[in-house]
Amino acid sequence: MQERTLVLVKPDGLKRRLVGEIIRRFEVKGLKIIGLKMLQLTKEEAEKHYSVHKGKPFFADLVNYITSSPIVAIIFEGNNAISVVRTICGTTDGSKAAPGTIRGDYSISIEKNIIHASDSTESFQHEFSIFFKNNEMVPFQYGDEVLF
Ligand code: CMP
Repeated sequence: MQERTLVLVKPDGLKRRLVGEIIRRFEVKGLKIIGLKMLQLTKEEAEKHYSVHKGKPFFADLVNYITSSPIVAIIFEGNNAISVVRTICGTTDGSKAAPGTIRGDYSISIEKNIIHASDSTESFQHEFSIFFKNNEMVPFQYGDEVLF
């Protein structure tokens, strides 16, 4: 099933110069980039993005952290994109994530875990509008789409 999902390269991913490596992993898998931008989230936008975690003990730190530097937001499209992307990310806690996943290879904590990815179509709907206008998603066809 064709799906869309939102990926954020968080401040640690950006500062550690991992943006290209992260995009590469998804791109070679066969996911299509249909939206891409670098931005600085405001506190209000960060609280909206992470509203499902409001009230949890780590909420304030999470908002402070995601607003501590620019981030890169990407919309990927592809077959089962939501679960495919989350598998490539690895489990939330980098210290437990499997080697070969992004978090397993580059993170050793739950706070600085490099990347965020939508966990459902509902989350994607909630999240993408914080980062993108509808006309900033630009679907296209690859010449060799049949290979994927
Ligand atoms: P992310 O995928 O961005 O979604 C919510 C984030 O909250 C998650 O990655 C972690 O970085 C962070 N998080 C989740 N659980 C905890 C926790 N128990 N303590 C601290 N941070 C957490």
